[in-house]
Amino acid sequence: MLGGLIAQTQRRRTVLRYQQALCPSCRSRWPSNTDWQKHLTSTAYDRWSRVWSLARYTNRAIYRTALALLDERHRTVLDVGCGTGLMSSMLAAQGRRVVGVDLSAAMIARAKRHSGSSVTFLEADAESLPIATGSFDAVVNLISLHHYPDPSRAVAEFRRVLRPGGRLVLIAFDRNSHYIALAQRTNRWTKRIAGVSWQKTSAEVQSLLKSAGFTRIAIRPVRYWIKTFAVVAE
Ligand SMILES: C[S@@+](CC[C@H](N)C(=O)[O-])C[C@H]1O[C@@H](n2cnc3c(N)ncnc32)[C@H](O)[C@@H]1O
Repeated sequence: MLGGLIAQTQRRRTVLRYQQALCPSCRSRWPSNTDWQKHLTSTAYDRWSRVWSLARYTNRAIYRTALALLDERHRTVLDVGCGTGLMSSMLAAQGRRVVGVDLSAAMIARAKRHSGSSVTFLEADAESLPIATGSFDAVVNLISLHHYPDPSRAVAEFRRVLRPGGRLVLIAFDRNSHYIALAQRTNRWTKRIAGVSWQKTSAEVQSLLKSAGFTRIAIRPVRYWIKTFAVVAE
């Protein structure tokens, strides 16, 4: 309750501070607050792209959990917010056809360099996927949802691109984690290094998924140093 109120106040402050904002990196002005938030996030991840391959080791528990939640029915997989394509490559190595999508141009450039031709990578926004309706057996979304200004639009997009009975595997940091609480307190600093973010609880994600039309939803904890949960939804 109190956490929700604090998050809401911080969100409102962010909105006010960044209306008509000037980007510290490229000095361009951003008329829409949403565009500006996405710009901040993608430039932050452009910088992260140089070292993101280390996540292969640090985030191993997250990738392993996601792999374990897919089976042989999931031959085509869309990896939304794919970063440098670590998960996409692991999925392709299992013989699946994979498309990776990310907002950061530098992340996508690195993904293309490191993953060879077995995966297709696209620079695109999770809230408006350039993907045909009903074209994937599974969508994977790993620690990326918290960056989306309109997560309900993104979740509706996940549902749209899945074939009937297709599966969403979503892994997210829990807003109730101590790490997230600390990050919220040092808000300006985290925005510079990790983009704009609005972490959620598993109940909030569940409610988003229900509104998007997912009916079978299961949630489980992920063993990771930040409190993290995995959601499987169909
Ligand atoms: C914490 S990284 C996770 C990367 C990858 N899923 C992994 O686990 O290795 C979050 C990723 O989400 C991407 N992202 C943020 N907002 C996005 C959006 N609106 N559409 C697509 N990708 C987005 C970022 O560029 C970044 O690569």
